[in-house]
Amino acid sequence: MNWKTHLTKTLPVFGAVGLLAITAGCGMTGTSERSEYTKVDGVYDDGYFVRYSGFFEALPTLPPIPSHNPMSPEQVDLGKMLFFEPRISASGVISCATCHNPALGWSDRIPRATGHDGQVGDRNTPTVLNSGFFTAQFWDGREPDLEGQALGPIEADIEMNMPLDEAIARLEEFDAYKRVFEAAYGTPEITPERVAKALANFQRTLNTPNSPFDRYLAGDLDALTDSQKRGMAAFVDNGCTACHTGPALTDSNFHAIQVPGSTDVGRFLVTGDEADRFRFKTPTLRNVAVTYPYFNNGGTETLSEAVQIMGREMLGREFDSRTNADIVAFLHSLTGEMPQIVPPALP
Ligand code: HEC
Ligand code: HEC
Repeated sequence: MNWKTHLTKTLPVFGAVGLLAITAGCGMTGTSERSEYTKVDGVYDDGYFVRYSGFFEALPTLPPIPSHNPMSPEQVDLGKMLFFEPRISASGVISCATCHNPALGWSDRIPRATGHDGQVGDRNTPTVLNSGFFTAQFWDGREPDLEGQALGPIEADIEMNMPLDEAIARLEEFDAYKRVFEAAYGTPEITPERVAKALANFQRTLNTPNSPFDRYLAGDLDALTDSQKRGMAAFVDNGCTACHTGPALTDSNFHAIQVPGSTDVGRFLVTGDEADRFRFKTPTLRNVAVTYPYFNNGGTETLSEAVQIMGREMLGREFDSRTNADIVAFLHSLTGEMPQIVPPALP
């Protein structure tokens, strides 16, 4: 028996024992703490839930699916292959997953992305997790949706540096690809539009529901620690929800800020409008604890520093260390269940 089959055969046993221990533990703290909760209008309250939960939305399992690109399992599978496919880069070694690495919160954990020929771009790689919930893509919102976004990185000289027609010619060399395009779209043609649609469909499946915060919003008052609850309250009371709102905690809108070390003019590059100088899209705060470093230039390493900068630049406040720690603890509760993606076997 090789080590992998050994693991899968033995793990469920440990898993079951571990689960028993955990549920037993939960049951105990659950009942003892529940007696501390009072009922307000028939709802158990911990002093925070009734007052603050209404400011937030739980993360659904799927984002809205646009009518111009309905999704089928075959299209999602094709999108997954393309996402992991390095042949559609000029060097043959860079795929979307190089920078949006599933092991690293679907990002890359370096300040600014490194692409074709080791070139370093100007911006930090955002996670693609929950990106179907954004109504603007990129830090400057130059594309409205995932379909529009998908082909940019293939062609960008500092990312994959591959003319689209050559990328498609490479895929056409493989009968296996023609078969998956046929399964997904009815005919074997490989077109830029189909590539973009399939990549968008796959990315719409990369969502992270059931975080401790989502379980709390669903009524499990033990899902957050006291510090996390204080952090949630501080997040609302200090006005963070003005921009970090909705299921992915972003308004997909643009706000002026110059984070430390950044000279990037942001949305101005797209619109040429002076009012847009230094405006950036509000990033999602879902899974923010695992998508460091922070900000458009990746210049800030810790959540604690990022929270302090936000308080100062966006709201004109200096948080004391306890409030900062509480908000950071709250942000940790936004890490959800990562999508269970098995990397595809490429032809
Ligand atoms: C060389 C690294 C690199 C590669 C390869 C790459 N990306 Fe990105 N991705 C980035 C960076 C950097 C940004 C932000 C760029 C900006 O805002 O100007 C980004 C932004 C995005 C966004 C927008 C997310 C948001 O929050 O706005 C999506 C979606 C995305 N990429 C998907 C893809 C797909 C699909 C591919 C493959 C076709 C891909 N990326 C290839 C680095 C990369
Ligand atoms: C006026 C809108 C606005 C408000 C209010 C606001 N933010 Fe932000 N937030 C942004 C924008 C825009 C960025 C991206 C800035 C950049 O990178 O240039 C950001 C970035 C962040 C980041 C870094 C995320 C990442 O992945 O890089 C964190 C963490 C954060 N905000 C937390 C908070 C907290 C906590 C508060 C309240 C104290 C807050 N924000 C208030 C708009 C806002």
